[in-house]
Amino acid sequence: MVALTEMTNLAVDLIDVRKTYAKNIHALRGVNIQVGRGEIFGLLGPNGAGKTTLVKIMMTVVKPTRAMGTIMGRPIGHRGKLAKTGYLPENHRFPGYLTGLQLLDYYAALAKVPRAARRASAPKLLDQLGLSKWGETRIDKYSKGMMQRLGIAQALMNDPELIVLDEPTDGLDPVGRRDVRQLLLELRRAGKTVFLNSHLLSELEMVCDRVAILVDGLVARQGTLSELTEHTVEYRITFSGDAQPIRSKLAALRATVDGDLVVLSGHDPAKVNAVIDLLRGQGLLIESVQPHRFSLEDILVEAMGGTAPQPQSRERQRADKAS
Ligand SMILES: Nc1ncnc2c1ncn2[C@@H]1O[C@H](COP(=O)(O)OP(=O)(O)OP(=O)(O)O)[C@@H](O)[C@H]1O
Ligand SMILES: [Mg+2]
Repeated sequence: MVALTEMTNLAVDLIDVRKTYAKNIHALRGVNIQVGRGEIFGLLGPNGAGKTTLVKIMMTVVKPTRAMGTIMGRPIGHRGKLAKTGYLPENHRFPGYLTGLQLLDYYAALAKVPRAARRASAPKLLDQLGLSKWGETRIDKYSKGMMQRLGIAQALMNDPELIVLDEPTDGLDPVGRRDVRQLLLELRRAGKTVFLNSHLLSELEMVCDRVAILVDGLVARQGTLSELTEHTVEYRITFSGDAQPIRSKLAALRATVDGDLVVLSGHDPAKVNAVIDLLRGQGLLIESVQPHRFSLEDILVEAMGGTAPQPQSRERQRADKAS
């Protein structure tokens, strides 16, 4: 019974999704992702990780090699719920001879939205996406960012329950990106589920309830932002003076010295105080103590098998600034 309740609460439940393209390109190698209803979920990962392939499988555009699970309660590949799903494809191309309003009307008609509802929604969405003055203009006159805004409007014309956006902020200026973030939050307030791919990690940090990091066709991490970053806190203590004589004592507290900076991993205020005592006992002057939480970018780099950026000593920071 519990399993059934959980299932119905999930907007997206992807189990062991695999896709091998011709020539043995293993784009997805067994992806498991769960998205609750009413969540904003962010999928991130480097170029070629398989994000678009996964979205296309969800939208029934690409046939998976293997896939289990459900989308809005229906098996993956089932087209029944697509009329209640909005989709912004990556690098979409719209017919340039249509105007913005004609395009919205056309796509909504494909999703079987009644004419009266189409007429009501199109100007409203153009307005929401900052395109109200462009409704009567042919799309071939639109800039890249305007095209992207129109694509997002198009994805919302059928008042979808699930909205799947592949790189929604691609090509948008900072104001456009902020508009999209606000729109996503409004959609969540209205109870919609949003699944988005993005390279712009800071964007995801601002709006997503949960994220998954896809690397080389596999989910490397999945969870809320705080779950992903909770064990990745460090303290950075700067001082003036010579810490060499107490280097081994600092090492015993798992603190490392880099020039005039001591870095202590983990969230342990007692240890921070012990380090400060040691430094002060040596007659050194504490200049600052800063907790530092890793960003999503750090987590991604780590998940990709790289190392998270090392803290910089103040000499190096000054040198960087000066150059
Ligand atoms: N139609 C296709 N035929 C063959 N290989 C493909 C096809 N589409 C994608 N691939 C390959 O599958 C892998 C995953 O590509 P995909 O476009 O899903 O990645 P992505 O994470 O969306 O990348 P990006 O961040 O650049 O958009 C890549 O190696 C890509 O070259
Ligand atoms: Mg992509």
